[in-house]
Amino acid sequence: MRYRRLGNSDLLVSEIALGSWLTYGVSVDRDRARACVRGAIAKGINFFDTANMYGKGAAETLLGELLAPYPRDSYLLSTKVYFPMSATDRGLSRAQIRKQIDASLARLRTDHVDLYQCHRYDEETPLEETMQAMTEVVDSGKARYIGFSQWKPSQIEAACAIDGVARFVSSSPQYSLLRRKPERRVFPLCRKLGVGQIVWSPLAQGVLSGKYSPVAPLPAGSRAGSKAARRHMKRLIEPQVLDAVERLRPIAAGLSLTLAQLALAWVLREDSVSSAIIGATSPGQIEENVGAVGVRLDRDTCDAIDAALDGVVS
Ligand SMILES: NC(=O)c1ccc[n+]([C@@H]2O[C@H](COP(=O)([O-])OP(=O)(O)OC[C@H]3O[C@@H](n4cnc5c(N)ncnc54)[C@H](OP(=O)(O)O)[C@@H]3O)[C@@H](O)[C@H]2O)c1
Repeated sequence: MRYRRLGNSDLLVSEIALGSWLTYGVSVDRDRARACVRGAIAKGINFFDTANMYGKGAAETLLGELLAPYPRDSYLLSTKVYFPMSATDRGLSRAQIRKQIDASLARLRTDHVDLYQCHRYDEETPLEETMQAMTEVVDSGKARYIGFSQWKPSQIEAACAIDGVARFVSSSPQYSLLRRKPERRVFPLCRKLGVGQIVWSPLAQGVLSGKYSPVAPLPAGSRAGSKAARRHMKRLIEPQVLDAVERLRPIAAGLSLTLAQLALAWVLREDSVSSAIIGATSPGQIEENVGAVGVRLDRDTCDAIDAALDGVVS
C-alpha cells in the first residue's frame, strides 16, 4: 500500500480507502463485512469512510463493531452529516451537528473521528453557523479534521473565507473515468486551499470493473442486480456506457491489469487525489482493487482510454 497526505492535515491516508455505502449493515452480512474489513487492513488500507445516513446508522454501527478489536490509532475513520436521519433530523444547523456527531461516535464506539464531513451543502442554514458548529466539533476533540462533499466552488470559497473557524482539509466528489467534472474547477481550487480529494465511486459503482455486459442480464448478487441499489446507477448501466467500458478491455489486458485496476490506477494518477474510496462486497474485490496501487499509466494509455470512452464521460 502507499499513503498520501490529506490536504494540509497530518493524516496519511491509504491510496485506497474502504467505504460502506449500500454495503455493510445493509446488503452485506456481518461475517462477510468482517472479512472485508480484515482483508482491507491486511492489505494496508488504513482509511474507512462512512456516514450517519448509510443504512440510517446501520453502517456506522457495524463498522464500529468490526473495527473495535483494532487499536484506535491504527486506522483513520471518517463520517458525515447532513442527510435526514428522521422526519425532523437533517441538515447542518448547530443543533444537528452537535446531536449527530454524538450519535455517530456512539455507533462507531469511539471518542473521535479523524475526519467529519458535511455530506452536502445546507442551503437552509447560514454557512457561518455550520462552520462554527464544525469548529466546535474539532475544538471538543470529537473530530480531528473537517471536510465537505460535493460543494460548489463558490460554497467552498465562502467557507474558506470565514475567519476564526477550523479549515477544511478534504473534499469528497464523485470521480472516475466516467465522471471527470471535478477536474475542471474543484481540483484546482482545492489545491490552492490545501484541501485534498477523497473521491467516491471510483469504479462507477462496479461498472468500470466490466462486470456488466451490454448483452447479458444484470448479474444476480451485483449492485445493479439489486432493484433497490440500481436506482443509483441508471445512467451508468445504459448500453452505450457498457459498450464503451468493453472497449477498455484490451487496454487493461495489454497492461496485465483487470479493468477495475485500470480504472483505479487512472484515478490515482491525479495528484489532487489523496485516496480513492472503493466499496467492496467481498475480500477478493479488495485484494484485486489494491493491485492498482503503484501502477503508472503513460500518456499513450491515457489517450487510448479517452478514445475508448469518447461520448460517455461527464
Ligand atoms: N460523499 C458522498 O456523497 C458519497 C457518495 C457515495 C459513496 N461515497 C463513499 O464512497 C464509497 C465507495 O462508493 P461506491 O461503493 O459507489 O464505490 P465503487 O468502488 O465505485 O463501487 C463499489 C461496488 O462495485 C463492486 N465492485 C468493487 N470492486 C469490484 C471488483 N474488483 N470487481 C467487480 N465488482 C467490484 C461492488 O459491488 P457489487 O459486488 O455489489 O456489484 C462494490 O460494492 C462508499 O462506500 C462511500 O463510503 C460517498
